[in-house]
Amino acid sequence: MLVKIVKYITKKGGKYWPSAEMKKIAWVSDNKIYAKALKNPVKFWEGLAKEGISWESKWKKGYEEKLPYFKWFVGGKLNFSVNCLDRHLEKKGDKIALTWIPEPLEEKSVKLTYRSLHSKVCKFANVLRGFGVKKGDVVAVYLPMIPEALITMLACARIGAIHSVVFSAFAADALKARIEDGSAKVLVTADGYYRRGKKVSLIEKAKKGSKGTSVEKVVVVNRLGGSVKGSKFVDFNSVLESADEECKPEIMKSEDTLFILYTSGTTGKPKGVIHDTGGYAVQAYWTTKWDFNLHDDDDVMWCTADVGWVTGHTYAFYGPLLNGGTSLIYEGSPDFPDFSRWWKIIKENNVSVFYTAPTAIRMFMKSGEKFIKSKDLESLRVLGTVGEPIDNDAWNWYLEKIGGGRCPIIDTWWQTETGGTLITALPGIGPFVPTVAGMSFPGVQHIIVDDKGVEKKKGELGFLVQKSPFAPGMLHGVYKNHKKYVETYWRFWKKFKKPYYDSSDGAFVNRDGLIRITGRTDDVMKVAGHRMSTAELEDAINVHKKVNECAVVPIPHKIKGEVPVAFVVLKSGEGSEELIAGLKKHVDNKLGPTARPAVVYFVKDLPKTRSGKIMRRILKSLLAKEEPKGLMTLVNPDSVEAVKGVIGDVKGE
Ligand code: WTA
Repeated sequence: MLVKIVKYITKKGGKYWPSAEMKKIAWVSDNKIYAKALKNPVKFWEGLAKEGISWESKWKKGYEEKLPYFKWFVGGKLNFSVNCLDRHLEKKGDKIALTWIPEPLEEKSVKLTYRSLHSKVCKFANVLRGFGVKKGDVVAVYLPMIPEALITMLACARIGAIHSVVFSAFAADALKARIEDGSAKVLVTADGYYRRGKKVSLIEKAKKGSKGTSVEKVVVVNRLGGSVKGSKFVDFNSVLESADEECKPEIMKSEDTLFILYTSGTTGKPKGVIHDTGGYAVQAYWTTKWDFNLHDDDDVMWCTADVGWVTGHTYAFYGPLLNGGTSLIYEGSPDFPDFSRWWKIIKENNVSVFYTAPTAIRMFMKSGEKFIKSKDLESLRVLGTVGEPIDNDAWNWYLEKIGGGRCPIIDTWWQTETGGTLITALPGIGPFVPTVAGMSFPGVQHIIVDDKGVEKKKGELGFLVQKSPFAPGMLHGVYKNHKKYVETYWRFWKKFKKPYYDSSDGAFVNRDGLIRITGRTDDVMKVAGHRMSTAELEDAINVHKKVNECAVVPIPHKIKGEVPVAFVVLKSGEGSEELIAGLKKHVDNKLGPTARPAVVYFVKDLPKTRSGKIMRRILKSLLAKEEPKGLMTLVNPDSVEAVKGVIGDVKGE
């Protein structure tokens, strides 16, 4: 296919703006939309809900708020899978809904049309019903990036079951904790997957993680040619083949739960963030359409995030499908067989919307630049970034090397809790500014406040909060944990009666009124875009038999953004290289390799306050080679000198 090369951006006054060509094709190009939407956000979102989503019956009330809870489209009824599939069948039944690229080069890509995806989803929904899964039951999904992940999730949505996806790189213990919290009845997993040319087994972790839990059936996708035995285990394809293709969708209330997704907070145990059906659908639909200017005729969207994270849910799967678009997913690693793989995929599949994380961009800058040929990238129109702050160099590199200086960079700020993007520039409006996310999505309002909830002036750093009415895709609680929900997100409301959702991010508003995110203000790290908490790692390390206690702090890393460093106090004896390797392996087994500490230091003592609180802030300063402040509060000031003696030149991995 011949691709017409168009310049979608233009430089004016030192900033990038949409070009006339972009304005012409943009869904929104007039910045008056922001003021218009904020005049009456509820009415604005009601209009979008009506236009973008198919409802079985209309809601009675647009928005209802009884803080800390709120509901959208109250009384409205719909089925999410119908919105992703059935409503497109008549006009687009033969259109490709999903293109799947397996990692092995000799395997062909798989293309599922809307009709074939619909058929598989209905069949698998019947399989789940056959296993006794009912509306409101939880199904755990522990799958790599293969089409069966999407089929399973939509099958759950079809029968009103709640999916709880667990990242396939997580360890058996992490899977088990999530299965137990949700009391999942069924687990859908695979024997394994391909990564960097090797077979990676999943089934052993799946068996271990589901043993002794509420899981009654384990459905296993045969990806590597293995077979599983045992009465609990069934083969995905065999049960799918024999299932009925007719499956009446369960009609759900707008506020019924669509999925839960566990994410890290300040404490050790991950929280099950609850997303509802109607509000989430509305935000997923419109943010995909407007942020990436997705058109359903020729656009192919590739979001490189794994389905184990929220970005994979909303932008690899649901957003493009709600819009009747084509989504592309890839099973493997960006450097297999070499760093040209991604760009070949873009060329061969005419990808027009590409959405990835700064970590990937920095990795290509460092190791993969010579594999990039601008001719391969001519189909691109919009480039997105997400997951961590993007630095100036990475932004400019992305713009020039991948976007050929032609495509807008859409830096999207959001969280597992927000369901969809919330702060970004829109491609038809701009401006596109390095390191600056942009404006709140139309109909949503964020401000920056101090620790008492008082609004800060422009340019002043503070806490990023969202104002009422809260965006439709926002979380609706923490699964079976009201206390955690209130404590984590509603401190400004609880303490100062301010109706603000606390994002736990730091930010400021720049001179032009655009928001710049500076990073987390709590003990959450973003390691290569993956979210985890220092407490989660500490809990994992602390259960090692040789460890007395430990503290984990993040340090900046050139490619991954941040990496964890562990300070370990042993019960007795000295540390050794062998023990460091043992501790890293232990973390792999408890949490998964993404959480592995980059550096482990053995120390005799950790700096603590009189009340016994470990002062991570001091450890952070020491790692940054800064003079730590506030040492007077320490019960053991000597520990500081001892730590100094242990840390050498820290470089991370
Ligand atoms: C960070 C990922 C800067 C932020 C969608 C947030 C970002 C956390 C950006 C949520 C961005 C996400 N610029 N920081 N564009 N996007 N973050 O739940 O700290 O995995 O709170 O959701 O990622 O991570 P989560």
